[in-house]
Amino acid sequence: MTDAQKIIDDSAKVLVQNYAPQPCVLDHGEGIYVWDTEGNKYIDCSIGYAVASLGHKPKAILDTINEQASKLMICQASYMSEPKLRAAQLLTDNSVFDRVYFSNSGTESVEAALKLARKWAYEEKGEQACEIIAFRSSFHGRTYGAASVTEKRNSQPFFGPYLPGVHFAEYNNLDSVTPYISDKTAAIIVEPVQGEGGLMPATPKFLQGLRALCDEHNIALIYDEVQAGMGRMGTFFAYESFDAAPDIAALAKGIGGGFPVGAMVSKEKFGNVMGPGTHGTTYGGNPLACAVAATVMSEILKPGFLDNVNTVSKIIMNGLADLKRSSNKITDIRGRGLMIGIDTVFNIKDVLNAMRENGILVTQAGKATARITPPLITTEAQAQEMLDAVEKALESLG
Ligand SMILES: Cc1ncc(COP(=O)(O)O)c(C=O)c1O
Repeated sequence: MTDAQKIIDDSAKVLVQNYAPQPCVLDHGEGIYVWDTEGNKYIDCSIGYAVASLGHKPKAILDTINEQASKLMICQASYMSEPKLRAAQLLTDNSVFDRVYFSNSGTESVEAALKLARKWAYEEKGEQACEIIAFRSSFHGRTYGAASVTEKRNSQPFFGPYLPGVHFAEYNNLDSVTPYISDKTAAIIVEPVQGEGGLMPATPKFLQGLRALCDEHNIALIYDEVQAGMGRMGTFFAYESFDAAPDIAALAKGIGGGFPVGAMVSKEKFGNVMGPGTHGTTYGGNPLACAVAATVMSEILKPGFLDNVNTVSKIIMNGLADLKRSSNKITDIRGRGLMIGIDTVFNIKDVLNAMRENGILVTQAGKATARITPPLITTEAQAQEMLDAVEKALESLG
């Protein structure tokens, strides 16, 4: 038995079996590459579900962790700190937002956004204003609030009851939203690109329409930018690439580049409603996480960084389109920036296995989509390497 198989088998005896284990065990990474315990090298286009935005082992993050961990890792959340201030200012100085709340994960950022919107609506419009409009095929996380606005709740009745007053409209269909709007509506929550839902980007017109509806009816507009934000669209915030800014946004994943940190950001009039004792978390805003987030954001904001994301996105999108034309194996290409999905004529499990066997890691999204989320530091030459690996994988399937 290989070391990897022993780790997988022994893990199965002690871990809750909520994940179907991958057949290899990852050991270390550098840049866009990872190696498993058997020494196999892969191009990592999964990066922990679109997390390691600066790739693996980035010097900037390692230096920051070393420096900050040897100074101060944790303090009570009510203490202010220089790294927390710096991270918060990077978010507010480079966006339409004025207020920041730090969390540890995507679901917690969504949870904070929902609570903020509900409290704002309670004060602004009254107790009845507690309903949320979300979208079909949405994914917002796994804590109860976030799960309640995730359409999958309908296939997981065993966790019920969920939050009442949640309506699911059709994504990219403004007409499907209006019937749900009333004086009970507190917020609309939407992903600029549905990730788990199958790499479906919103049309700018749809998000602009939601913005107009929210303005007209005094409703809080929340973007879940957990996966799409922080450079992945080729803009710092995802909303910039759609020309329609929300009132509140949830962030996580890419903001920490692999370190667990999230944030909820909002415009002044929303953020203002949270006073002492309304919400909080032990680890949120800790100096170590904030120092890392500040470093990651500073890297993303360096001149040329986002230009590279846009260039590499074009290379991959065009390369996939060429492959679609020449091979007849790709049936659809969707996405935006470096959040790309392909549907193929093959079974998705076979596609994921073939990709891995041909040296590239991708993840499943939706029912049948292979999700390609390369690190944002991918070079033009590496983008070509990714395309070659995808082509080889699809060829191997016949
Ligand atoms: C759009 C979106 N929102 C929220 C989450 C939940 O984030 P986390 O797993 O960090 O709780 C995810 C995770 O995949 C996500 O893609």
